[in-house]
Amino acid sequence: MPDLSTSMRTHACGELRAQHDGRPVTLCGWVARRRDHGGVTFIDLRDREGLVQLVFHPKDQPEAHAAAQDLKAESVVRVTGGVRPRPEGTVNPNLPTGEVEVVVDTVEVLSAADTPPFPIEDRTEADENLRLKFRYLDLRRPEMTGVLRLRHRIIRIIRDHMDALGFLEVETPILTRSTPEGARDFLVPSRLWPGTFYALPQSPQQLKQLLMVAGLDRYYQIVRCLRDERPTSERGLEFTQLDVEMSFVGEQDVLGVIEPLYAQIVREIQGVEVPVPFPRMTYHDMLARFGSDKPDLRYGMEMADLGPVFAETGFRAFSSVLESGGIVKGFAATGGARLSRKQLDELVQGAKGRGAAGLVWLACEPEGAARSPIEKYLSSQEIAGLRAGTGAEDGDLVLIVADAPGRANVALDGLRREQAGLLELVREGEWRFVWMVEPPLFEWSEDEGKWVSVHHPFTAPASEDMDPRAARARAYDLVLNGFELGGGSIRIHQPDVQRKVFEVLGLTPRETDEKFGHLIRAFRYGAPPHGGIAMGIDRLVMLMAGKDAIRDVIAFPKSQSGSDPLTGAPAPVGEEQLRELGIRLSAEPGREEE
Ligand code: AMO
Repeated sequence: MPDLSTSMRTHACGELRAQHDGRPVTLCGWVARRRDHGGVTFIDLRDREGLVQLVFHPKDQPEAHAAAQDLKAESVVRVTGGVRPRPEGTVNPNLPTGEVEVVVDTVEVLSAADTPPFPIEDRTEADENLRLKFRYLDLRRPEMTGVLRLRHRIIRIIRDHMDALGFLEVETPILTRSTPEGARDFLVPSRLWPGTFYALPQSPQQLKQLLMVAGLDRYYQIVRCLRDERPTSERGLEFTQLDVEMSFVGEQDVLGVIEPLYAQIVREIQGVEVPVPFPRMTYHDMLARFGSDKPDLRYGMEMADLGPVFAETGFRAFSSVLESGGIVKGFAATGGARLSRKQLDELVQGAKGRGAAGLVWLACEPEGAARSPIEKYLSSQEIAGLRAGTGAEDGDLVLIVADAPGRANVALDGLRREQAGLLELVREGEWRFVWMVEPPLFEWSEDEGKWVSVHHPFTAPASEDMDPRAARARAYDLVLNGFELGGGSIRIHQPDVQRKVFEVLGLTPRETDEKFGHLIRAFRYGAPPHGGIAMGIDRLVMLMAGKDAIRDVIAFPKSQSGSDPLTGAPAPVGEEQLRELGIRLSAEPGREEE
């Protein structure tokens, strides 16, 4: 442990061990808990490093003992005293300092505390908004301090790794021009240029590419990105990336930087060895086998195309979907035949909630028998085909969705994740990395009525062919246990190819020049072939800390509604500030309608 002594203290509370026996110490910390035993008062004193037990004797040090009676929880105190071993039978093996205690001679209150709005304990029942409003108290909880320490450790490992591989950390601006990463920009009005706006970076994508044109060769940055989208458990308005760009590389070079780093992080944090290189799966295979481009491989339940099984079916709901170009697809939920009728009904409702037209289940029973709401429409060959196709065994539950491919996959992916939890099939403690490779370059956006980039428009096509229906991208995502941890691509570095991509995306040459002229111009002055990746740090720390939301691993996160209960942001501003910016509001300040 580093030396934390200062002019006010000799040691940190949490660092005291048997080896300190007999030492005089001065400690500073927060009053965590007080209890009395046969006239003797005990106080747990807390600091960042942990808790230590203080002992106040009424006879030996009456003044300190008297003062201890008035100490309120969470007050900050400074004590002097001596370290001694705890008497036999009172050693606490669950506490790192549990072999010793500090017999107090003097106590001084540095700052008296009001009663906190919730107890500062590892397990808290407190409402999340209250915890965020008093985040400085929430972060005092050893669990949260531990998370911030873990985050620090991970970032240290990353920085050491990148430095050893010759990457230079370069800062890029926060006030910039919009980069299309598929989300809405946060805009900042300019006072010096009335009527114009900076955009906060969704990522430093274009700037890191320009650093390659500048000859920097290997860039990285631990960087904050800002995207105006609805926050979720794995998505924030602001989040942190390990952003990477390299020159003169192909896919393998970029993946080869990330793989040993992530294997090292899992080794150091979890004590688990994961083999490198990580497996790769094409986007097409992932969707076919798991209905998702970020599958959780800690359990099986692969999906099967059941179209051939129902080619001749008399069941209208299936035949009409197949006739109209849809798919019938399903998987066997291991042991799912034991689910109750109520649970099955909830499954069907859940699938509808995820947009599927409907869900059919079939419980596999011994000797080829089956139970299903559509039993009477199914021939024995079809039932046998279902079992063979999905690999279902007796006791399994086959779940089938018939719909357009996109909707069917979304519904089945949700079902597969849900069943894994419900049926306790997740092999906890496994870290299953997989690279998704060769995604499409473009996809059709129903909302916008045009082709959009699947990754971003700077991604290189896998071949010369730029037919938006068929073109594949030289892009890759790293997936871990069902989460997208990062994504990147080999980039376009030829002006004509870049123009062609913008043309497919529906930009006129003029619009391209207006929005991306700076990048295309740079490519005319000697651009090295280059590629990179950006890794989501919050998601990584969330998984390493075993948390359910990235908010739990960020010191001062926004709440799920995008507000900050601590400072009250976002907040209205004064007339004067608006006038300076040349802004008149057309709506009363308030919240967006849910
Ligand atoms: P992309 O948009 O895929 O790529 O982002 C890379 C990774 O960042 C994380 N991430 C997020 N984490 C928390 N909250 C969010 N709102 C959020 N959005 C993304 C994810 C994701 O995999 N410039 C490209 C990268 C490149 O091509 O080099 C980019 O930003 O873990």
